[in-house]
Amino acid sequence: MAKEPVRVLVTGAAGQIGYALVPMIARGVMLGADQPVILHMLDIPPAAEALNGVKMELVDAAFPLLKGVVATTDVVEACTGVNVAVMVGGFPRKEGMERKDVMSKNVSIYKSQASALEQHAAPNCKVLVVANPANTNALILKEFAPSIPAKNITCLTRLDHNRALGQISEKLNVQVSDVKNVIIWGNHSSSQYPDVNHATVMTPSGEKPVRELVKDDAWLNGEFITTVQQRGAAIIKARKLSSALSAASAACDHIRDWVLGTPEGTWVSMGVYSDGSYNAPAGVIYSFPVTCKNGEWTIVQGLAIDEFSRKKLDLTGQELTEEKELAYSCLS
Ligand SMILES: NC(=O)c1ccc[n+]([C@@H]2O[C@H](COP(=O)([O-])OP(=O)(O)OC[C@H]3O[C@@H](n4cnc5c(N)ncnc54)[C@H](O)[C@@H]3O)[C@@H](O)[C@H]2O)c1
Repeated sequence: MAKEPVRVLVTGAAGQIGYALVPMIARGVMLGADQPVILHMLDIPPAAEALNGVKMELVDAAFPLLKGVVATTDVVEACTGVNVAVMVGGFPRKEGMERKDVMSKNVSIYKSQASALEQHAAPNCKVLVVANPANTNALILKEFAPSIPAKNITCLTRLDHNRALGQISEKLNVQVSDVKNVIIWGNHSSSQYPDVNHATVMTPSGEKPVRELVKDDAWLNGEFITTVQQRGAAIIKARKLSSALSAASAACDHIRDWVLGTPEGTWVSMGVYSDGSYNAPAGVIYSFPVTCKNGEWTIVQGLAIDEFSRKKLDLTGQELTEEKELAYSCLS
């Protein structure tokens, strides 16, 4: 028997990431090749015409899994009945703007969208925040949607995770699918810590630690980390636009693993509400290694953290605490 359609909200759907993301969802990349979907697309009135153009293209693509499209500038209509919400819309930092001004715009967007989701989304709706500052936007959403369980609100660090896998695969000249268990700790910003201390590669003679195969700690502790941290800026420099297809693909990976589960023996990175695991600050959205089963994520516990890593976990945690304070100062 055919499955009931799942309603997926994409905010900022007329933007770059939205344009790459909605066809992936409609093709089953996010929720599976046998899962029908109804897309809810939200954008703001100046983008209404472009949004309608995206809707026209979705119709023209004749996706078999796509059972309906809602394209709207009305946040209540957009949020009604959604089972998954991918929050891509936000206010970008423009030249000459202070951090506080950008934060203030996003705090007010995420505060109002939190209320709309809380009141109108399906019970147990899973939320993924992509728009920057992703961790803190997700925290604001959580604070202003108190009836949505904190475990249902996450932010995207899977793009950084995938970038780290990609760098290791290029360095070792191995398939990216043979590399696993890198970790992105902390903030989706340049303070994030891409950690390979527990990562492995599948080789013809079994699983081997990345450090043992790379045999270059200076690269792993230096250029590798900065390349992953600065990859977003490098894409902007090359494309004159920020990363979109890789961000859309990572958003699909994030939701797919969350809903359908991570493979045995594999973890992924997700920004989740911190309980203070690994002495990260509690009460911020912090990226941890997680496994997923039955639609729930669990932080992987008990990994050894050396002194080098400790400093980096603390540094990115500190930045998140400061971002939280800045966000709260915008509320008053
Ligand atoms: N977490 C990550 O890994 C990651 C990666 C890449 C980009 N991003 C972030 O994702 C966001 C989107 O990137 P993009 O390249 O698609 O940007 P974009 O400017 O092309 O698109 C953003 C869209 O959001 C819309 N929007 C603005 N305010 C809105 C609101 N209140 N409600 C609904 N829609 C609204 C805009 O009209 C626009 O269509 C940015 O904040 C970017 O920094 C995050």
